Amino acid sequence: MTQTEVEHPTAYGQPDGQDVDDEELSGPLLIEQLEGNGITIGDIKKLKADGYHTIESIAYTPKRILMNTKGISEAKAEKISNEAAKVVPLGFTTASEFHSRRSELICLTTGSKQLDTLLGGGIETGSITEVFGEFRTGKSQLCHTLAVTCQLPIDMGGGEGKCLYIDTEGTFRPNRLVSIAERYGLNANDCLDNVAYARAYNAEHQFQLLSLAAQMMAESRFSLLIVDSIMSLYRTDYSGRGELSARQTHVAKFMRTLQRLADEFGIAVVITNQVVAQVDGMSSMYNPDPKKPIGGNIIAHSSTTRLSFKKGRAETRICKIYDSPCLPESECVFAIYEDGIGDPRVEEDKE
Ligand SMILES: Nc1ncnc2c1ncn2[C@@H]1O[C@H](COP(=O)(O)OP(=O)(O)O)[C@@H](O)[C@H]1O
Ligand SMILES: [Mg+2]
Repeated sequence: MTQTEVEHPTAYGQPDGQDVDDEELSGPLLIEQLEGNGITIGDIKKLKADGYHTIESIAYTPKRILMNTKGISEAKAEKISNEAAKVVPLGFTTASEFHSRRSELICLTTGSKQLDTLLGGGIETGSITEVFGEFRTGKSQLCHTLAVTCQLPIDMGGGEGKCLYIDTEGTFRPNRLVSIAERYGLNANDCLDNVAYARAYNAEHQFQLLSLAAQMMAESRFSLLIVDSIMSLYRTDYSGRGELSARQTHVAKFMRTLQRLADEFGIAVVITNQVVAQVDGMSSMYNPDPKKPIGGNIIAHSSTTRLSFKKGRAETRICKIYDSPCLPESECVFAIYEDGIGDPRVEEDKE
């Protein structure tokens, strides 16, 4: 061994004995870390004002979009983009590495073992899950349950993070969280403090809330973002026939931002959706219950997993996997109780 090799045991500036590879990289990288190499604090301020809070958010954004930020020139956008790409992996990876990364993905428990099993473990983080169904099928009840379970330790089916709850219909009820928290042995006050709630009043406001969400997620650990429900404000704000294309453009922008947050912060995104009667002739001939979620292709293509909820007997509900990249089309029964979503209680079922 040569002299120089012995003399640089702490070549990375780390205190001895610390493993350089030990992932402190697992959380999001704050955008402030880009300062230097011609990127100033002023540039970072401008980007933050436009909703970019992490290096991931920069790396996943095309240069021409970065240039839309006021005060960011083409040359600057190029530089910022290149610096971000040095830190955030954007190239190919082997399937086996991808597989091992995916197996680290956390799933949030729904409160029902059968529903978790149907979903292959629960609600997946890093992607968008859409829950659609008629009025009173339990969509908002699932959201309330997840707002609590996302706070649980990982080995209890949680995500060890806070919840951000965007409510467009005014159906959020904090007292529902209290009974669910008690079921899981959580302190009700802490549990409520960990849910950041916002009522959205119009579609534009609903979108602006995502920018605030990104800021909050950069500051502390969140594991879940809920939008209950995704389309209702669009339906009222863009009600005319001629507004459909403008509406869909806006919905697409909203969904892209949701996916970006899921990627950037590794959170689960859960959106709920309403259904309407399907009017196109043929499909209703073969489908005994011709109801489809609204939002068209934009919602269909940007939700990774789509779940359909239907009413069952009494407190029971039926969840069907409508679309998923890796789950078969199958269904299960769950139930709604005072303490949240659970499995149906079979002992009373004798008739
Ligand atoms: N505290 C509770 N205990 C038991 N069931 C409840 C409770 N609160 C609401 N529910 C059930 O949840 C249903 C409403 O579900 P909800 O999630 O609000 O429907 P939606 O799909 O319209 O969002 C009610 O019909 C009722 O059956
Ligand atoms: Mg609801």
